[in-house]
Amino acid sequence: MGLIEAFLKSDHHAIKLLMRDHREVDALFLEYEKADNVTHKMSLVSRICQSLTVHADIEERILYPAARAVLGQNDQDLLDEAYVEHATLKGLIIRLDGLRHSDPLFKGYVSVLKEYVQHHVKEEERDFFPKLEKAGLNLEQLGLRMMDLKERSMALLKSEPQQTGVVNAPALPALPLEERSQQVMRES
Ligand SMILES: [Fe+2]
Ligand SMILES: [Fe+2]
Repeated sequence: MGLIEAFLKSDHHAIKLLMRDHREVDALFLEYEKADNVTHKMSLVSRICQSLTVHADIEERILYPAARAVLGQNDQDLLDEAYVEHATLKGLIIRLDGLRHSDPLFKGYVSVLKEYVQHHVKEEERDFFPKLEKAGLNLEQLGLRMMDLKERSMALLKSEPQQTGVVNAPALPALPLEERSQQVMRES
């Protein structure tokens, strides 16, 4: 789905919501690169980690299981890859948590996180979302559930104490990867 098509969907359409999240994170990475103040940079990286954590959680709890149920056998691999990519992204976010700007690997982690997010987003938007549109899912209804979960997760994270001078990466309770990927069992 192109940007214009996405724009024409209702505000709670699942794919529109997710694409909006994707663009928000792009914008935060850009702002991080332009920022010349360390405090600002640290707060941007914390926000990036927060957005990505909530976004991945929404996809894993709502979108991916729904997709698992409707996608054909040939497309199930796309989902397996998406779960593994999320796990890798979360691993980078965990590494960033508590890191200071002066840490020798700080920039490296942020830069790899950005590249990895771009790769994952490209695959979702180019390969995965168009298949969901064709698969007949009720994307409006899924979007409403996503909005509700996002609100609750953001409220939960906002109540967590923040440390100054370091990246504050959030953690949401998650199932082990294999369990997550099997939320809707394959038929074969
Ligand atoms: Fe994703
Ligand atoms: Fe996504």
